[in-house]
Amino acid sequence: MKLDIVFSPLGLSQNETGGRTVLVVDVLRATTTMCAALANGAKAVIPVGSTEDALKLAQTLGDDVVLAGEQNCVRIPGFALGNSPREMTAEAVKGKQVVLRTTNGTPAILAIAGAAAIYPAAAANLSLVGAKAREVFLRDRDLLIVCCGRENAFSLDDAYCAGRLAIEAMGGRRSAKGLNDAAIACLDLVRRYGTNWERPLRFSRAGRELTKLGFAEDIADAARPDAYPVLAHFHERRVTVVATTQ
Ligand code: MLT
Repeated sequence: MKLDIVFSPLGLSQNETGGRTVLVVDVLRATTTMCAALANGAKAVIPVGSTEDALKLAQTLGDDVVLAGEQNCVRIPGFALGNSPREMTAEAVKGKQVVLRTTNGTPAILAIAGAAAIYPAAAANLSLVGAKAREVFLRDRDLLIVCCGRENAFSLDDAYCAGRLAIEAMGGRRSAKGLNDAAIACLDLVRRYGTNWERPLRFSRAGRELTKLGFAEDIADAARPDAYPVLAHFHERRVTVVATTQ
């Protein structure tokens, strides 16, 4: 039995990801934004690594494309949307392919190589992605949770979220058996903050920066469990919704 968490995608090798089911977390804000877009009817979210890639890709897709993304947390000039989950309204994204460029989240997803399956995760889809994690963990006795982190380093917001996901995967159990040290530390964070998402999100560096830039409401939005209830799946370079029976 093996449940690993990594605090950043930096240095993740195919040895660590190959053949495994991976939950990928950028709760502030990329994976929350993906869930919001899909819950509001986007056909797909297509993560890209750079602004140039976003512009190039948009030219090859049809006219149902919306460019979204941030640089230093603010909307990229010329893009229709930023990286705020609150911007992903049905009016803006329904029936559209959202090409999304973010600083940490989208490059991290693209860096995960050879995984059996990749599920973007956040508080926004906690129950559905948690149920999938539980199913996988019971079946494979193996799961990897990748925090996108910040500038290739630890971030409190993602680590807390990873701890919550690990507990879901273990069916509520909180024992250290089979966990790597990062996962044990994430469980400790959940012990510290309890079930209150907003505190660790606000205290994190990402949270403080977003607040300073006037995006405090995005933190409140990202802290709402099951606010955008979709099971999102990254496959063939796009994130789409998996139909669930729940
Ligand atoms: C990222 O992927 O770097 C973050 O989601 C940045 C942000 O909050 O806009």
